[in-house]
Amino acid sequence: MHDILFREVLKNLPTFCLERWQSLHETKAEVLLSESGVHPLSISELEELGVDLKEISKLELSYGWTKGSPKLREHISSLYSNVIDEENIIVTNGSAEANLLSVLSLVSNGDVVIVDMPNYMQVYGLLKWVGARIIPVWRKPPKWDLPLEEFLNFIKDRSPKAIFVTDPNNPTGNHADKKVLSELAEEAVKNNITLVFDEVYWGLELDDPKASIIEVAGPYNVVSVSGLSKVYGLPGLRIGWVAGPKDLIDKAWRVKDYTSIAPSIISDYIASRVLEPEAVKKLKGRAKNIVSENINIARGILVDYKDVLEPYWPSAGAFLWARIPWSNDTLNVAQHLFKNHSILINPGECFELPGFVRIGIGQKPYYFKENFIKLMEALRAVHRTL
Ligand SMILES: Cc1ncc(COP(=O)(O)O)c(C=O)c1O
Repeated sequence: MHDILFREVLKNLPTFCLERWQSLHETKAEVLLSESGVHPLSISELEELGVDLKEISKLELSYGWTKGSPKLREHISSLYSNVIDEENIIVTNGSAEANLLSVLSLVSNGDVVIVDMPNYMQVYGLLKWVGARIIPVWRKPPKWDLPLEEFLNFIKDRSPKAIFVTDPNNPTGNHADKKVLSELAEEAVKNNITLVFDEVYWGLELDDPKASIIEVAGPYNVVSVSGLSKVYGLPGLRIGWVAGPKDLIDKAWRVKDYTSIAPSIISDYIASRVLEPEAVKKLKGRAKNIVSENINIARGILVDYKDVLEPYWPSAGAFLWARIPWSNDTLNVAQHLFKNHSILINPGECFELPGFVRIGIGQKPYYFKENFIKLMEALRAVHRTL
């Protein structure tokens, strides 16, 4: 398994450990606690929430708008408090394609870039592939805050071309406050460095609402990647976007001619209605309710399992980052859980942090309670056998 998860796919392109781990196991596990978004909605659940999809059967299945329909791009731009307009948006196939387009449009062989760590390792892997010189800057326990001082020092000492941050952060569930974002943005703009923020968990804050980096700094030298997979519970639409300066969006559009041409017109149609302000409010509310309730459930259960798992309670996102105090070989622990208990969680090794695990907390609360107890019992059993 180690080799499957860590060998190169192509020259200089590492296996994307997290996605490979999930692709290989998620259809087989009975208890799925590996997801990072809230439980997906069905089309009829969307309609029950008031999303009007009546005209969908009349939709002509053309290529549609390769950059995303004007209506969808307008709705997306309004998420950013109208600091930008639809010309600042390109719609992509998931945030995954948005990250790909951002890296390919911005970074070339030999460029120095700073990367927020730990991280969802897609951008990191892509940066390696294009030959960037990567400076990893690590968040630290117990709070996993964005280490602003270190970022500022590296800006001064290494003059990077771009800085890639995932905030709210996957896997730690920490999100930065506005003051930190403002200071980082101010230095980046002053030094002509592009800030690229993966904000796919933006909108699922459990404490204070987080500002997007674009709301903080405007669209100059600042890029926000986001999408509908996590907070909105619609990963099957495969709708994401890049929001940023117009020249970058134009370049990303030209790169997209090579990757997927256009988003699916069916998804574009549904997304345009899902991003009406009323529906946005309801979907964000749904996500927050699910995660808040599950956190309460997990807190209650964990009282009896303090020896098994040490949680870092998230301030955003639909996942729980935790330490396994009795093992540093968490890939082995995760494999045991899968093989012997049919439970799937994500090992810290996929975030370059063995000794930790990421557990999904976005399931419907009724199932979550049952499954979280199963996980705790299984972890205790694995602890006994290792
Ligand atoms: C930080 C981050 N970015 C991007 C993605 C890709 O999401 P999608 O392509 O479904 O929008 C994920 C998925 O887990 C993620 O965690």
